[in-house]
Amino acid sequence: MKLMTIIGARPQFIKAAVVSHALKQYRHDINEIIIHTGQHFDSNMSDIFFGQLNIAKPDIQMNINSGRHGEMTGLMLAEIELRLIEEKPDRVLVYGDTNSTLAGALAAAKLHIPVAHVESGLRSFNLKMPEEINRIVTDQVSDLLFCPTATAVSNLKNEGFHKKSVSIKHVGDVMQDAAILFREKAMAPKFSDIPKDFILATVHRAENTDDPVRLANIVNALNELHAKRAPVVLPLHPRTRKLIDKQGLNLKVIVLEPVGYFEMIWLLEHSQLVMTDSGGVQKEAFFFNKACVTMRDQTEWTELVDIGANEIVGANSDLIVSAAERNYSRKVEDNSLYGGGEASRRIAEQL
Ligand code: UD1
Ligand code: UDP
Repeated sequence: MKLMTIIGARPQFIKAAVVSHALKQYRHDINEIIIHTGQHFDSNMSDIFFGQLNIAKPDIQMNINSGRHGEMTGLMLAEIELRLIEEKPDRVLVYGDTNSTLAGALAAAKLHIPVAHVESGLRSFNLKMPEEINRIVTDQVSDLLFCPTATAVSNLKNEGFHKKSVSIKHVGDVMQDAAILFREKAMAPKFSDIPKDFILATVHRAENTDDPVRLANIVNALNELHAKRAPVVLPLHPRTRKLIDKQGLNLKVIVLEPVGYFEMIWLLEHSQLVMTDSGGVQKEAFFFNKACVTMRDQTEWTELVDIGANEIVGANSDLIVSAAERNYSRKVEDNSLYGGGEASRRIAEQL
């Protein structure tokens, strides 16, 4: 079987790494071809993951990035379609909820190539998020729906997917596989002195960065925590850096360039608290037994909130600071909500 994997953004490299690894281990009958759309392109947002996680160099490298949503998705759609016509894969595999996911799934579905979606069924129920639109449409055109959680399965059922001729598989979360597989490779970020007992923060979601009030509130809260509670270490996404500069905000925390996955694991392991708006980092906090304060109004990973591992606080400075005070150095127990590291093997077997 010829399988075409379509990826483009940082979290997708990490997810695809473990599935590719499982395909090599369990499925010698599958020939995987990788398309990289180019959505993320800085070396510390892309190449570093291919190197660290030993992902095969993309067979097809595109260079589509930095545009408006419609523009970027449309350019990807056109170029992926051409490549699918040339390569004639038996199936396309997409991950998550980025513009690369949507373009890959749509291009394939229109050519009647079956689509498998890893991280199917996640919902925030907030249609203002670009990710929510991408995941709803991707699920609708996929026939093999790999759900990371029981909640994701029930979301699909509520949308009537069990009445369609598609296959819904509850496989667990590939990010947990990655955390387990690469844990021993953790390494401290180079060229930066990381103090003891720090708070690890990441911020990049459009709903925060593109809203001047929310972004200023988050910056103020992190500055206040850094000054009064514990050092805040912030590997900064290029989107956030651009918007902070544009707004003239002043970050007074330990700002790092985006780090590799091994450095991120080290930071997760050594932190006392995780504060984020990232989907992946919310779960990674849990995998490394750290409480998480989520600076968003909803999460797709609701089970973490239900068990008290994750607190959703939105983007109000006072609420962020008080949640950080409450959760600092609180340990949480990972109780195998996410499949225990078997997701990529299950996906390889089902494909
Ligand atoms: C995208 C995904 C988001 C995901 C995130 C992971 C969509 C709609 N959003 O958001 O769901 O959580 O990736 O990190 O697909 N940039 C650089 N260098 C890079 C990458 C990006 O400078 O290597 C800049 C771009 O030029 C652009 C901005 O960052 O100005 C945003 O990039 P974009 O890919 O549009 O969205 P993300 O915010 O990264
Ligand atoms: N990550 C990383 N370096 C960083 C920030 C994040 O390796 O500087 C990893 C993080 O550990 C997780 C993934 O990138 O595995 C999450 O990606 P991101 O937060 O960009 O996107 P999301 O999960 O929100 O879509």
